[in-house]
Amino acid sequence: MEDPYPFYDRARREEPVFYSPALRMWYVTRYDDIVTVLKDPARFSSAGAVNVPLEYTPDTRRIIQTSFLSHSSLTNNDPPSHTNVRRLVNAAFSSIDRLDLQERVRGIANELIDGFAGDGRAEFVKQFSFPLPMRVILSLLGAPQDDVARHKQWADDWIKLLLVQMSAQQQAETTARLLESERYWLEMIERRREQPGEDLLSELVELSDASPEPIEPLQMVNTCAVLTLAGHETTTNLLGLCLRRLLGMRDLWAKIEKGGAPIPRIVEEALRADTSVHALMRTTTEAVEIGGVMVPEGEHVALLFASANHDETYFADPSRFDPARRQTKRHLAFGGGIHTCVGAPIARMETQVAMEMLARRLPGLRLTQGQEFRYLANPIHRGLNELYIEWDT
Ligand code: HEM
Repeated sequence: MEDPYPFYDRARREEPVFYSPALRMWYVTRYDDIVTVLKDPARFSSAGAVNVPLEYTPDTRRIIQTSFLSHSSLTNNDPPSHTNVRRLVNAAFSSIDRLDLQERVRGIANELIDGFAGDGRAEFVKQFSFPLPMRVILSLLGAPQDDVARHKQWADDWIKLLLVQMSAQQQAETTARLLESERYWLEMIERRREQPGEDLLSELVELSDASPEPIEPLQMVNTCAVLTLAGHETTTNLLGLCLRRLLGMRDLWAKIEKGGAPIPRIVEEALRADTSVHALMRTTTEAVEIGGVMVPEGEHVALLFASANHDETYFADPSRFDPARRQTKRHLAFGGGIHTCVGAPIARMETQVAMEMLARRLPGLRLTQGQEFRYLANPIHRGLNELYIEWDT
């Protein structure tokens, strides 16, 4: 994970669609092949795409089958159910302009920076890049900001339950906490129904109630949980990768400090060059050919967005960080097709605001010398475990 790009380059050249027996998964590495898959949700299903064969106790199995965990809303759903939820979520997101989101982001970022500006140094992930997107998504959903730690625990619990083999005891503890999160969201949804606030969840509940096909309660819980999950770690990782990259380019950072740099272009290039969602999965619903390779029915297929974003067919000299390159937005960092990231405008804005404010408020910001950059051991998300920074006080 430290530098997977040479491996991706080789895969694109030598075996652009390959099978990994260790991960029991097909990998698609070229830009065009990935776009073809994204445009074909009928043959490449998103339902159950993150299901790994694990041993569950009878109690865990029962809880999974009867709780919000058995429901699909966005990421792991297919049409027509996905179409309905996505239509309502899109409509709710279109109200964002009214919610003064940029002001909220600035407010939260300022508060976080106030907390450490006088120290002259910080661990960026813990003190800024994790809490910022988490607090932004909670604020959007109208959930209390003090609940950050609980949501982090619930997000970790959900991922672990899906991907990690746990003991019976661990499963019991994890599912108990996930049922608590279900009650939390059910109560929150009811409160928004009775007393709508200036938030996305209030909009979504209202739109759903008025729809001929409303989102049912546990599917609504699943939607809230997916938004919280998809809305934080993705952006946390981009913020860390982007800051590390920019602090390594002193001339560019100096320009940003002086307010003379094209920040939207820089963030777009960071999304391309340092893609934070490296891969996402699909399952084939029939035998299907991808890039000349026959993939049987029922197989897991991973789309390596990070590799597509370094495909030299579309991005000349792909390892060069060049905010001036043409068609910066052509990257696939936010996926494509019916599952295209619903939070892309928010993620872009958060990262732009963050870079601008860090440069303005922390003079002489630089990477702490001698640190080792360690990356998450995660096949989907690429990000730094921690990032130490310093500045002049
Ligand atoms: C840098 C930040 C982000 C990155 C790189 C990113 C990336 C992605 C990608 C690649 C997908 C496509 C999934 C697929 O094809 O299966 C996706 C979907 C999604 N993203 Fe993001 N995302 C980011 C931020 C956000 C934020 C801030 C939110 C919420 C506010 C969000 C909510 C979602 C949701 C709900 C989906 C599922 C959409 C659907 O299935 O219809 N994302 N994201």
